[in-house]
Amino acid sequence: MFDVPSQVSAAFRQHVLLYGGLCAVLAACLLFHRQFWPYWRFFYACFLKPVDHGNAADVKALSGQQRALEGFYRTQAEVYDVTRGLLLCGREDMLQLAAAQLKHRMDAQSGKPIWVDVGGGTGYNIEKMNDFVPVSDFFSAVYLVDLSPSLCAVSRQRFARLGWKNVHVVCEDARTFVLDKSEDVLDTAEHGAPGSKHRVKADFVTMSYSLSMIPDFYSVIDSIADLLAPHGLISCVDFYVQSAKSYSLRNFTGGHHSRHVNWFSRLFWRAWFRLDRVHLDEGRRDYLEHRFGTILNANERNYSLGAIPYYIWLGCQRSATSSAAARRIDALATESPYLSPVHYVEKRDEAATAAARVTRTQLRSKGFEAAILNLAANVPLPATFYQNQRWRLYYDEALPKHTQFGDNYIYAFAWEDPAEDQRLLGIGADDVVFAITSAGDNVLAYALQRPRSIHAVDLNPAQNHLLELKLAAFAAALPHADLWALFGTGRHPDFRTLLLEKLAPHLSSRAFQFWLDNAGTFYSRGGLYETGGTRIAVKLSKWLFRVLGLRGAVRQLCDAPTLRAQRAIWRVRLRPVVLSRWLSRFVVANEQFLWRALGVPPNQRDMIYEDALAAAAARGGAFVPKDAMWQYVVDTLDPVVENTLLRDSNYFYRLCLMGQYSEDCHPAYLSKEAHETLSQPGAFDGLRVHTDEFVEVLARIRPESVTVSVIMDHMDWFDPEGTHAAEEIRALNKATKLGGRVLLRSAGLKPWYISAFSAQGFKCERVAARTSGKCIDRVNMYASTWICTKVGTDPSALAEAEPPVQAVDDVNVEDSEVVESLEL
Ligand SMILES: C[S@@+](CC[C@H](N)C(=O)[O-])C[C@H]1O[C@@H](n2cnc3c(N)ncnc32)[C@H](O)[C@@H]1O
Ligand SMILES: *[C@@H]1O[C@H](CO)[C@@H](O)[C@H](O)[C@H]1NC(C)=O
Ligand SMILES: *[C@@H]1O[C@H](CO)[C@@H](O)[C@H](O)[C@H]1NC(C)=O
Repeated sequence: MFDVPSQVSAAFRQHVLLYGGLCAVLAACLLFHRQFWPYWRFFYACFLKPVDHGNAADVKALSGQQRALEGFYRTQAEVYDVTRGLLLCGREDMLQLAAAQLKHRMDAQSGKPIWVDVGGGTGYNIEKMNDFVPVSDFFSAVYLVDLSPSLCAVSRQRFARLGWKNVHVVCEDARTFVLDKSEDVLDTAEHGAPGSKHRVKADFVTMSYSLSMIPDFYSVIDSIADLLAPHGLISCVDFYVQSAKSYSLRNFTGGHHSRHVNWFSRLFWRAWFRLDRVHLDEGRRDYLEHRFGTILNANERNYSLGAIPYYIWLGCQRSATSSAAARRIDALATESPYLSPVHYVEKRDEAATAAARVTRTQLRSKGFEAAILNLAANVPLPATFYQNQRWRLYYDEALPKHTQFGDNYIYAFAWEDPAEDQRLLGIGADDVVFAITSAGDNVLAYALQRPRSIHAVDLNPAQNHLLELKLAAFAAALPHADLWALFGTGRHPDFRTLLLEKLAPHLSSRAFQFWLDNAGTFYSRGGLYETGGTRIAVKLSKWLFRVLGLRGAVRQLCDAPTLRAQRAIWRVRLRPVVLSRWLSRFVVANEQFLWRALGVPPNQRDMIYEDALAAAAARGGAFVPKDAMWQYVVDTLDPVVENTLLRDSNYFYRLCLMGQYSEDCHPAYLSKEAHETLSQPGAFDGLRVHTDEFVEVLARIRPESVTVSVIMDHMDWFDPEGTHAAEEIRALNKATKLGGRVLLRSAGLKPWYISAFSAQGFKCERVAARTSGKCIDRVNMYASTWICTKVGTDPSALAEAEPPVQAVDDVNVEDSEVVESLEL
């Protein structure tokens, strides 16, 4: 024993007695408090009770899995709902997502749906569903299938209490359950006359925490595939553990965002749930995803509850996408002449010209190629093919060129003036527009002109997620107030609900995952406009103004009623500080800051220096790099504040200063009229969202089809020594129609690549230049704006017009055959 002084041990003993006694009293209180009873019984049944292999007489009469289940659930059937309420996370979310999908699909199909809840237990989910759709009215029939008699008894009581006549409890093994065996179905005349051979199918199947409890899961999933109607919906919520190694090569799961579970958690949860007869082997989820097409897929943890990993998955029959749909997606993405983009017309055999036929067999979007590859490999198509809105095209999320952005966007708001674009370009109904997505604001501005089609392109997947969110807000016909909260103020108190209930049916699986994970954006103090790379600029200016005691002045500046008043505040109070040289030294000339916050890469900075060098030479003065940057900022800001009103016109700077838009000052797409136009069904039918490099996308667009390209300042980023700019210009030339225009902006007054445009069949004109004191647009951030008009075809481009698509030949599937087989 320990050798301790006797006083200490006496004091120690007293403490032990005191605290031990207290704990015992507390425990006894807990034990006997009624509120805690259910938990104790759950605990007892799970861990203390000797495993009951079914020794009670009535349990003995059962056999196999049913006997085991009954041994487990009999003692807890009554307390099941109380004890599982917390543990089984995500059931409500799953139901809400499924309800939203059902409602979205209901418009198209007639008749009330039939719902089968497999492993439905106590019927909790069916009652809960009533929060989202009226169960007794919405469904023609609901079947709860469960193998445990005691849980079935609880659910029968529940539905008797609720008085729902269309809900039926079937105590049967899910493997053998079929609808037409059940007499009730035969009674309902809507679904085929009694005794007819016509198999009745379910329109909606759910599995909530039951897949992990069914030993023979392959056969249950197979039988559900038989049970589900061709256009039915299946949804599932369950625990899982999985390592990135096992799923990273699968391209049909609709995205891998936060799916990986670390080694320790995998081991721990698997062992833990084993005790509870819940099996977390990976094959369960994998087989589900393999057997069906994925609509939405999300990986979740509840951190206030031990962070147990669980997933929510919505799927459909693999064959739910038709060849017509796949070809239409493809036609829109490639500007194929065979299908008119808005009205799908098939003109297969009367192929117009031989040249066009070449285009048809050779130009395929990457999305369509993916479909062909997956069909050849006998796996489901990528999730984008099963989505309700098909504007987003499939891309391989694992490529380093996409992962380099760290799953975040740089631009939370666009930093180019679309009103100026429209003034220069006059986009109209016949235009095919090719544009950078950025924050999506300008794409929406172009969409307001209703061009024939728009190709929005971004290499950063998250920029396209942001565009998708905006598109979904319109497609879901959210009221203007919600739209305003989301993108006007950047804050929405119910974003998560809005996402699950309204937006999800219009989002791609990946965009959904992204926004589910980033739902906090809209609850945070800074809101949407203090996220992304641009947040650094917004936050820094906010912080600086606070530190310098200028917040009042900034507010006055933003609310100044006239230009005169605005100028006065600027000149007297703000300019001396904001444009002081020391601030510029510390902040603006800092390379890290330029790149991270303002998105100015070194190549672009060099262009600014070059112009400054030329100006210095003309003046006969010396060139100081830091002063050059400062002068650039002065040339940007001074004219803006002198000439545009922050109160009701210049929403770009207003946002930077205030962190949100105002009712009088916002991008055009946030107006009430725009809301009306863009909320109309089919408003974005001609839109395709590509996640790829420019060159890659241009190479797959039918030659000579694009009439307008807006490529922002993106050419500035290229290395003048490299070949990228020339390649891109060649690709632009090939895809652009004769007379088509490319609009670009540059930080240089005469960018080096203009000569390359001229050399490759473009006539270039500088339509605006920012010589000191002039304002070229409301952003005024670039030194020049150019329009390059295609006047000739670059001979080298035609010579190189090799089909970029080899994959079709690789899998050796004849084109028409493939298109046929898309029907499966
Ligand atoms: C964890 S409970 C989930 C119950 C309910 N879906 C919920 O979310 O509360 C799993 C259910 O699956 C049922 N189950 C297990 N194997 C089954 C089988 N082969 N056929 C039908 N039901 C089964 C069990 O009886 C149990 O009710
Ligand atoms: C996590 O669990 C807590 C406690 O049960 C619950 O209040 C909360 O809503 C859950 N969060 C999510 C995102 O499901
Ligand atoms: C998707 O994965 C399968 C194998 O799992 C592969 O055969 C197929 O080529 C892949 N598809 C694409 C588009 O990469």
